[in-house]
Amino acid sequence: TTKSSYRIASIPGDGIGPEVVSAAIQVVEKLAKTLGTFDINFDHIPWGTAHYKQTGSYVTGNALDTLRSYDASLFGAVGAPDVPDHISLWGLLLAIRGPLQLYANVRPVRTFPGTKCPLTTATEGIDWMLVRENSEGEYAGQGGRSHVGQQWEAATEVALFTRVGIERIMRFAFEMAQSRPRKLLTVVTKSNSMRNGMVLWDEVAASVAKDFPDVTWDKMLVDAMTVRMVAKPQSIDTIVGTNLHMDILSDLAAALAGSIGVAPSSNLDPTRKNPSLFEPVHGSAFDITGKGIANPVATFWSAAEMLIWLGEKDAAAKLMGCVERVCAAGILTPDLGGTSDTQGVVDAVCLEVEKLA
Ligand code: NAI
Ligand code: MG
Repeated sequence: TTKSSYRIASIPGDGIGPEVVSAAIQVVEKLAKTLGTFDINFDHIPWGTAHYKQTGSYVTGNALDTLRSYDASLFGAVGAPDVPDHISLWGLLLAIRGPLQLYANVRPVRTFPGTKCPLTTATEGIDWMLVRENSEGEYAGQGGRSHVGQQWEAATEVALFTRVGIERIMRFAFEMAQSRPRKLLTVVTKSNSMRNGMVLWDEVAASVAKDFPDVTWDKMLVDAMTVRMVAKPQSIDTIVGTNLHMDILSDLAAALAGSIGVAPSSNLDPTRKNPSLFEPVHGSAFDITGKGIANPVATFWSAAEMLIWLGEKDAAAKLMGCVERVCAAGILTPDLGGTSDTQGVVDAVCLEVEKLA
């Protein structure tokens, strides 16, 4: 058989994005070279705020066609202190997720060996799988502003939910829950006060559930879910919810597991018509940009998820094993209570990877 070869679009973006993406590329290139079982090439794509300031646009030409010419994308972060966040986010990330129909945003959270879960209610740490609807809901871009600048200025933000959109993410989430040992799914909505879209979510959940008799499922209102995450973390395994709700819950989940610096995310097109995009959950982190102390683990893990999606399951498992051994050895960045810098973690993981030879 011929060796598989992958072409990856690397989009480091802003802030600590370039620091963590470069860290992940070093580690993945070392992995490919050491194992010799696949080839991987990263093309640098200079989209982001610097590009916007030079050209007036966050991306070049037909960004979607550019991305479609790759097997996957590895993304860093977008957002700068001197550009409004809604301009930067819609200029780059939201210009990709929706149009490429990367409708499933998968966010595992786990307490790493050698790191601490701050919850006394979770002595063994946390191991959850969060599934976020990634193409509609509150981030569909519906709404507008009228009477701009007047005292009576009005603005609407319309949450858009479709039966197709809910059903496909619900099926994805039930399949995800089914594939995990506990086969446990919690559907998060807010169907008491939001009596249209959220009620449709509940109805679709109940009907999809019939096709998964081996999955135990329940539903929670989002506010109560925050309490359950803190008070009864062991009662949770897989969670599915809307774009907005899961955006918020996944930051909370990451912090509960140890740090947002370890949380990965996959933006998937489960139909595989379009290449998927992999990125850390965190953003540009202005407060630590340029200091060389950004935690690269979230991007390592995102790259490992990318390898799994591409079909390199063994390589991904080996990479995560190396990352876990480095964490367990106490080689951690300051967000995890350690004293290492980004490159220190990269070098330690590369050393572990070399031992795989
Ligand atoms: P943030 O995730 O950038 O930072 C929140 C806090 O977590 C900061 O104290 C930061 O230092 C820390 N942190 C984040 N990543 C870390 C890492 N790898 N290692 C160590 N510490 C880390 O969120 P914030 O401050 O709300 O947003 C900053 C900018 O990033 C904004 O422009 C925002 O719009 C953008 N953003 C972009 C995202 C993306 O591209 N997917 C996601 C979230 C925010
Ligand atoms: Mg977020």
